[in-house]
Amino acid sequence: MFLSHDDVDHYGNVDVVMELCPNATLITSWFMTERLTGELNVAPTRWRWLGDGEQLDLGDRIVTALRPPLYDSPTTRGLFDHRTGVYWASDCYATPVTTGTAFVEELDPEAWASGLTVFAQWNSPWATMVDPAAYATACRRIEELPLHAIAGCHGPTIEASNLRQAHELLRAVPTAVAPPQPGQELLDQIVAAMTGAPTAA
Ligand SMILES: [Fe+2]
Ligand SMILES: [Fe+2]
Repeated sequence: MFLSHDDVDHYGNVDVVMELCPNATLITSWFMTERLTGELNVAPTRWRWLGDGEQLDLGDRIVTALRPPLYDSPTTRGLFDHRTGVYWASDCYATPVTTGTAFVEELDPEAWASGLTVFAQWNSPWATMVDPAAYATACRRIEELPLHAIAGCHGPTIEASNLRQAHELLRAVPTAVAPPQPGQELLDQIVAAMTGAPTAA
């Protein structure tokens, strides 16, 4: 099992899965072990540390841990599967959807573009401060893989026909303008809808 980073939406059920799969190995890293101390109950004999850029032979395929250009935890690494050409991007290349959607091709192109941009800037707000050349290098590291598809944790899969646009959208994130996040007014509306209380004018 590959653990991309130490956010609870990614590691929340690791203990249960490892218990149900007694022969499984948890592929993670030193830094993640540090940050998850006290959170997980997995014996050190079942960990395998795989750092950024390192390869692992799984028997039927080689995988490489590669940090995506954008992320929300310093432990983050994606995983490239050399056999299928699929890159698991963790939180990167994500876009919110209103209903179950398998592939970005099914989305309205403008909704995909704005969704990817907003998710990326909100999840990695430091992107607006990056050095453009260094960021381009980080993007190229993924773009130049023999990619068949990009999958991630927060959005539909990006197939070959949409990869070029995905790369263009991600490259533009640092200079794109994202809308502000919802504030107290929205919470007031949610609470009012739940309780029937009137909202402030
Ligand atoms: Fe995350
Ligand atoms: Fe996440």
